[in-house]
Amino acid sequence: ARVDKGGYKHFMAKEIAEQPSVLSNALSAYVTEHGIALPDPGIDFTKIDRLVMVACGTAYYACFTAKYWFERLAKLPVEVDIASEFRYREPPISKGTAALFVSQSGETADTLAALRYCEGKADKIYSVVNVQESSIARESDLALPIHAGAEIGVASTKAFTCQLNVLLLLALKAAVERGTLSQEELEQILSDLRSLPGTLNAAMDRDADFANVSKKLSEARDVLFLGRGLMYPLAHEGALKLKEISYIHAEAYASGELKHGPIALIDKHVPVVVFAPKDSLFEKTVSNMQEVMARGGRVLLVTDSAGAEAAGAEAWRTITMPQVPEILTPLLYALPAQLLAYHTAVAKGTDVDQPRNLAKSVTVE
Ligand code: G6P
Repeated sequence: ARVDKGGYKHFMAKEIAEQPSVLSNALSAYVTEHGIALPDPGIDFTKIDRLVMVACGTAYYACFTAKYWFERLAKLPVEVDIASEFRYREPPISKGTAALFVSQSGETADTLAALRYCEGKADKIYSVVNVQESSIARESDLALPIHAGAEIGVASTKAFTCQLNVLLLLALKAAVERGTLSQEELEQILSDLRSLPGTLNAAMDRDADFANVSKKLSEARDVLFLGRGLMYPLAHEGALKLKEISYIHAEAYASGELKHGPIALIDKHVPVVVFAPKDSLFEKTVSNMQEVMARGGRVLLVTDSAGAEAAGAEAWRTITMPQVPEILTPLLYALPAQLLAYHTAVAKGTDVDQPRNLAKSVTVE
């Protein structure tokens, strides 16, 4: 079926706005009243001692986020890598390793080649894809669909949140099987997850705030994105999105790494976007923000109401997101990452859905 823009100015805007409903569909495909329903036989998390996740672009940042989830929830060692590096490095893969490939299109040449490299070496080959009839899905022992629906905008949005959704469910399953998460804890997280589409929908209200601040961002030559913990991969995704569609140079750093280099770049011309819900690492992020402000840097703080209150009025701009449990923050903060890039590109007048030099799916090396 032909997909149209459904009244939106760009496919990207439509796909951002669709996230509450596609996420809700994706959840009902995998979560029943009895818990997580993943196909059987899936990954046997009691048998493996390592998970290797490989992808490109936005899918790679979904994997990077999932590393934090698998390690924290399931105490499972995870290696993440970009496909083009992974395969040429010829890393040793033992039978105790499960290999997981994440790809929206299922056709990315480097990711497919990395998958083939793992064939016969890893315990099993798994994939998380949007296109079920794709090469990557076909060549996997098990391919889990993300149920995002067709994604047309070159910059990936709803596929990212739906990838995160499946990866979080896998991490939760791993945690239960490995005995690191109780049934009660699982049920709590699943119930929080069920209310997430509603929260995402409410967060769409901030669209005008992001549009407003993006007019300022569109004047910048360079933008820094900072985050800690689960917000560190998100900072990368925010920087990637901004580069892709607005052509503004953007870099992501772990907040704690700021002092080891990028702080030298800070002056009043470099906006610094900080993703910082009031989580266990918030205080540390605030002190990093202060280091930026002390050097004249303009901080755009994206936080929740507790964080906004704790940080006071020091930031250049603060946008307040709804409150969600720490473990779910990547799914919610994907939205500001996307909206900032989208509105900045619109303010600059670039081609949002078809950015120069980029392809939706890179099927050549
Ligand atoms: C291209 C697209 C990105 C995408 C990446 C990986 O670079 O422009 O948006 O994240 O490929 O694509 P995949 O289909 O493997 O997820």
